[in-house]
Amino acid sequence: MTTSRRPDPALLPHGDGPGAITPDGCSVEFYAALAPGQEPRIVHDAIPERATILELGAGAGRVTHALLALGHPVAAVDESPEMLERIREAETVLARIEDLDLGRRFDAVLFASYLLNVPDQEWRRSLLAACRRHVSDNGCVLIQRHEPEWFDTAAPFEHHYDDLPQGEVVYRMRDVTRPGPGLVSATMEYSIGDRTWTQSFTSQRVDDAQLADDLGAVGLAVDAYLTDDRTWIRARPSAAGWSGGADRPGASPSTRQP
Ligand SMILES: C[S@@+](CC[C@H](N)C(=O)[O-])C[C@H]1O[C@@H](n2cnc3c(N)ncnc32)[C@H](O)[C@@H]1O
Repeated sequence: MTTSRRPDPALLPHGDGPGAITPDGCSVEFYAALAPGQEPRIVHDAIPERATILELGAGAGRVTHALLALGHPVAAVDESPEMLERIREAETVLARIEDLDLGRRFDAVLFASYLLNVPDQEWRRSLLAACRRHVSDNGCVLIQRHEPEWFDTAAPFEHHYDDLPQGEVVYRMRDVTRPGPGLVSATMEYSIGDRTWTQSFTSQRVDDAQLADDLGAVGLAVDAYLTDDRTWIRARPSAAGWSGGADRPGASPSTRQP
């Protein structure tokens, strides 16, 4: 098992509100209420039929359940037991992504939800190394990042959506600052009915050149940009190979079969 580090505590995310909150500040109740959105279709269209998927940071299974319905066996990883309790029909793995070493590999590794944009390069590479450890030689890693331009344009907003059975969802972003080059800090406020949660975070820009460097450092390379806004990327093991230990025995994190 690798030991990973996280950066300056001032840059770490945190959150509050009703119900369980994950170490990175996400509300379990809020994520459990959200609809799957477009992510499952983007993933499904980028991989072979019935491809096995390791989903990193799976949360309450918002995307997991839709991928299962599309025919993909999914192993769902999260560091929050309260999130994983919400997942049905998939294998679940309670672990930090950085430390994950299951000793087996998957057709596809899903690394979405802007986890790439953590505010520290060493941390980011330790997350990407976990992707590389678990992807088959002919498989792929699907990555979702913030648009690089967003780091220049991010500003407070308030959006209302009316697409949940529980009622209107309100997203507000406030307290936007830029604490350093390529960094944005902000607080998101989410409301459904009379429940409100906040999550404060700092994200780091990962432009195309930075992405290529970080992927190359762990034995991956960009294969395709999957969306016009270039926020979804498919990466594959690079020809140069990798000696990061994908075939080492697993470090026995807590797993639950469906
Ligand atoms: C924003 S939520 C998104 C959940 C899910 N991907 C979705 O789209 O609904 C991020 C999830 O990633 C998990 N997470 C964040 N960093 C993690 C890490 N380093 N290791 C394991 N889980 C992590 C959190 O606990 C949380 O459940």
